[in-house]
Amino acid sequence: MLQRPRRNRKNEVIRQMVQETHVSAANLIFPLFIIDGVNQKSEVASMPGIFRYSIDNLLREIESCLKLGLNSFDLFPNIAEELKDKFATESYRDKSLYLRAIREVKKNFPEACVITDVAMDPYSSDGHDGIVENGEILNDETLDILGKMALAHAQSGADIIAPSDMMDGRVGYIRNVLDDNGFTNVSIMSYSAKYASAFYGPFRDALNSAPKFGDKKTYQMNPANQREALIEAELDELEGADFLMVKPALPYLDVIKLIKDNTELPVAAYNVSGEYAMIKAAIQRGWLNEQRAITEVLTSIRRAGATAILTYHAKEVLENKWL
Ligand code: PBG
Repeated sequence: MLQRPRRNRKNEVIRQMVQETHVSAANLIFPLFIIDGVNQKSEVASMPGIFRYSIDNLLREIESCLKLGLNSFDLFPNIAEELKDKFATESYRDKSLYLRAIREVKKNFPEACVITDVAMDPYSSDGHDGIVENGEILNDETLDILGKMALAHAQSGADIIAPSDMMDGRVGYIRNVLDDNGFTNVSIMSYSAKYASAFYGPFRDALNSAPKFGDKKTYQMNPANQREALIEAELDELEGADFLMVKPALPYLDVIKLIKDNTELPVAAYNVSGEYAMIKAAIQRGWLNEQRAITEVLTSIRRAGATAILTYHAKEVLENKWL
């Protein structure tokens, strides 16, 4: 045999020398859930180790992450039911929990990269990402609300705006609103290929944001489709997105790779709540080795082509020095 691929695996030094993919703290974005009140910290039942924090505790959590070299955070609010309405007006109210949280984080930690989620669902009495009329999700009318929300985030200090709603034309609409108001430097990380996935369940538990009727299939993508992701990615790129995101991550590694091969923009992937829950549940039962399973997941997402990974594992992999 002339070729013996095993020679390049014969010891740890050589294995590391030929390793093609690495995950580092710089690649990781940590999603954080916010809840109203003081000194609150409540665990999400379906996401062991993940908590909803009141703003004071959120600041403590971010401080401890920054010490680990984890510098990017994606914030999500848990909104009290009585503050929700059909038009998600709470999403751009000046004193809202979310806008206060953004301001506090940027005031205390200007160096932290704050990514904000633009979508109506946590604030919508219908639990949908758009305005509902006669059971339908209105596209163009929703853009106006998304624009107001994005502007409020930018005014509060957001570094990157991440529209996760999947309305048509929202990236361009938001880009125009930001630019018209002088926020030309605020970035857009678009959820380009966001699938109508079963893996968002634990997230909706965390925020109490599940749709009150129906599903999200008229706006989120069909899990069976790959080529359609290119349409979404191309449009977002033309409309001014700075990052293209694929979500979920693990069941859609092919989509990450496809988009990566068709854009020069950085690609992000969201390793979602259900993916986290699945891994943690098996670990709790002793069925998987925690360190190996989690690092393999993150490495695979990087290998597929994601530059940035939004993951609930971000803090634990750094705390435990698993990378
Ligand atoms: C909603 C939104 C969802 C997630 C991020 N933004 C859920 C949904 O579309 O219903 C899911 C994230 C996760 O599951 O971790 N705009």
